[in-house]
Amino acid sequence: MKQKITKIMIGSIIVFTLVGCANKQTENILYSSEAITIMKEQEVYDTIKKKEYNKTVETFLEQKAFQKEYLEEYYQIDYVEEKDFTTRVNTLLDKSYKPEEINIIFKYLNEKNISKLLDMEYQNITEYVQIPNVEVDKIDRYNAYKEKENLDINTAVTYVNIGLDLEYYSQIQTIEDPSSYTVLLNKYRALPEDYVPDDLTSLSINPNMQLRKEAAEHYEQLQDAALLDNVRIIPFSAYRSKTYQTRLYNNYVNSDGLKNADTYSARPRHSEHELGLAIDVRSSVLLDNLTDNDYQWMQNNSYKYGFIIRYAKGTTPITGYIEEPWHLRYVGIDIATDVHEKNITYDEYYDLYLKETEKN
Ligand code: DAL
Ligand code: ZN
Repeated sequence: MKQKITKIMIGSIIVFTLVGCANKQTENILYSSEAITIMKEQEVYDTIKKKEYNKTVETFLEQKAFQKEYLEEYYQIDYVEEKDFTTRVNTLLDKSYKPEEINIIFKYLNEKNISKLLDMEYQNITEYVQIPNVEVDKIDRYNAYKEKENLDINTAVTYVNIGLDLEYYSQIQTIEDPSSYTVLLNKYRALPEDYVPDDLTSLSINPNMQLRKEAAEHYEQLQDAALLDNVRIIPFSAYRSKTYQTRLYNNYVNSDGLKNADTYSARPRHSEHELGLAIDVRSSVLLDNLTDNDYQWMQNNSYKYGFIIRYAKGTTPITGYIEEPWHLRYVGIDIATDVHEKNITYDEYYDLYLKETEKN
């Protein structure tokens, strides 16, 4: 018995001594044993030992991504917990990004932008990186448009993202999710050729006019609410098929010329009327417009029913259309309220707040 206790005591002393030694060995160098092995292989152990522990350095070592020539840079790069961090950092370093640039890239840019950057030549991103709607592959266009139009950087980013540095109807993108209530159509974004809404509903006030169901219901609520305030509005154009929009646009072109027609009529596949989410309304006392009073009412109230004034006064440089106080677009109450509060065009709103959540 006594012998056994002595053995256990000796055993314990050995174990404690070993653990103690191990602790001693790593007390200045807190790295994992895998990291230490690589340090030694790469002959940087002595250098690293003299410096404070660094998580980025350890991660590069552990993930076998460590490149000796970048040791100083690794020390200046903030560790980020994300897939492919080490490979991505090495790629950026190979492209001559400085550690401080790499830090802001991972801090501010979204996944899409980081992936794009990794496939591009070095870009000076410093002044753009904190702009939430930046798209890094457009930096040259931002710089050019900012200079040309003398814009502040945020405005240049949004306008170029909309497409305003390009000719109208160039680089047209076909939208992927046309049945979304928040879809953006403009001179750069078109509906797929065959899209027809599947829930068109006649308005009770005029069965010849249709909107998509939710928009139709909300429009009727809006019109009833207006009437309670003595604002009498009458719809004069709602859903239009592609054939109808084509005929309408061609008629305008024939009678007024293409340049003029483009200022007030959308080309086929570009009209919100083809979405079944736009409706033109007039005051009962006018043929095709709203009185100032009725327009004022619409500005103050339409958002409560999910409608925005899509081509509001003063928005021509952004929308590319003349003012159309009569053209209401349904986007749903939450978005309409937000657009109303921010008091910006839907083109800008979409770029700033919606594009990341939409499919395109
Ligand atoms: N008048 C508007 C822009 C349209 O044609 O949709
Ligand atoms: Zn319209």
